[in-house]
Amino acid sequence: MIGTILSIFYVIARIMANNERTFIMVKPDGVQRGLVGKIIKRFEAKGFKLVALKFQWASEDLLKNHYADLSARPFFPGLVKYMSSGPVVPMVWEGLNVVKTGRVLLGETNPANSAPGTIRGDLCVQVGRNIIHGSDAVESAKKEIALWFTEKELVNWKPAQESWVYED
Ligand code: RTP
Ligand code: MG
Repeated sequence: MIGTILSIFYVIARIMANNERTFIMVKPDGVQRGLVGKIIKRFEAKGFKLVALKFQWASEDLLKNHYADLSARPFFPGLVKYMSSGPVVPMVWEGLNVVKTGRVLLGETNPANSAPGTIRGDLCVQVGRNIIHGSDAVESAKKEIALWFTEKELVNWKPAQESWVYED
């Protein structure tokens, strides 16, 4: 009896872990350099599930809010100018440990320290033009997703490949 209850909890915990979400955004330089498809492909090919995606030219207010934690940093004005200089591609991706693994796919903040094979390691050179954003924690992901997307824009669907990405 206890064994059955524990195994039900175990299955629920595993399903919930697979539902972790992160906020990923192709920055204006990634869009201008025609890297949107390449970047999306990395997350798709890994096996993560796309939950939301749009194309927009974000306002300075939205970007100041998005990067509010960095508002006291000397590079903040330049960061807001850069991020509002053209359209961006905000996205939500879902999967097991997607926040942490998403950051691994991105590479280090400074592309000079990013390993080859990562997005920043392969596709950009300077910290102020590092082509992609990724949430740094589950809590900040929740905040960022709510800032960029409405509940309705988060699509509920089951990828056909799911049982080939995750164990039953
Ligand atoms: P992001 O939030 O964009 O994913 O980047 P991150 O977590 O790797 O790094 P974070 O510390 O959050 O910095 C946000 C963005 O600000 C720019 N930055 N410039 N000039 C500089 O020293 C400097 N430091 C950070 C980068 O575009 C960085 O991604
Ligand atoms: Mg950050």
